[in-house]
Amino acid sequence: MRLSEISGFNFADCIGNGALLTATKGDGTLNTMTVSWGQSGCLWNREVCTVYVRPQRYTFEFCESENATLTLSFFGNERKDTLNFCGTKSGRDVDKIKACDLKYTLKNGACIFEDAKITLVLKKLYDDNLRAECFTDSAPLSNYKNGDFHRAYTCEIIDVIIK
Ligand SMILES: Cc1cc2nc3c(=O)[nH]c(=O)nc-3n(C[C@H](O)[C@H](O)[C@H](O)COP(=O)(O)O)c2cc1C
Repeated sequence: MRLSEISGFNFADCIGNGALLTATKGDGTLNTMTVSWGQSGCLWNREVCTVYVRPQRYTFEFCESENATLTLSFFGNERKDTLNFCGTKSGRDVDKIKACDLKYTLKNGACIFEDAKITLVLKKLYDDNLRAECFTDSAPLSNYKNGDFHRAYTCEIIDVIIK
């Protein structure tokens, strides 16, 4: 299924409310974190989305690993606490999936949470770090006082799973 086939789905609204970005390494280990910045659209004749991960996130290591598989999971209000938890705790310190009692299956390496309303299965196509010299408006640079520029991952949405 394609994302554009889900009537009424607004990517900006949904990710703006928080979603879980989960990256699985080739060996099946995974980590998840809350994201609220990203966009979706059409690029290279594919349906894509871009998510933004700062280098200090533990999830970054997983996104960078060879053969990483990413998913973006959208939940209902009942998982608000989970999104807060996964957006404030690091997988370096706590097993967030266990702490939040998130049940999941791996489908070809992609983490599908049982409670997610919508899961986007992502295939990395292109990534690069944002760079200070490329900003044409300086206002957003205030997000990078520590120089920790996000890495932008543009991914093909290869599957959409709706619960
Ligand atoms: C609502 C919300 C949205 C967030 N969005 C992002 C984001 O888009 N990119 C990012 O790098 N961090 C984002 N974060 C911060 C990470 O989720 C947070 O640092 C998390 O603890 C990282 O976990 P990790 O170290 O296990 O990867 C967000 C946090 C919250 C609470």
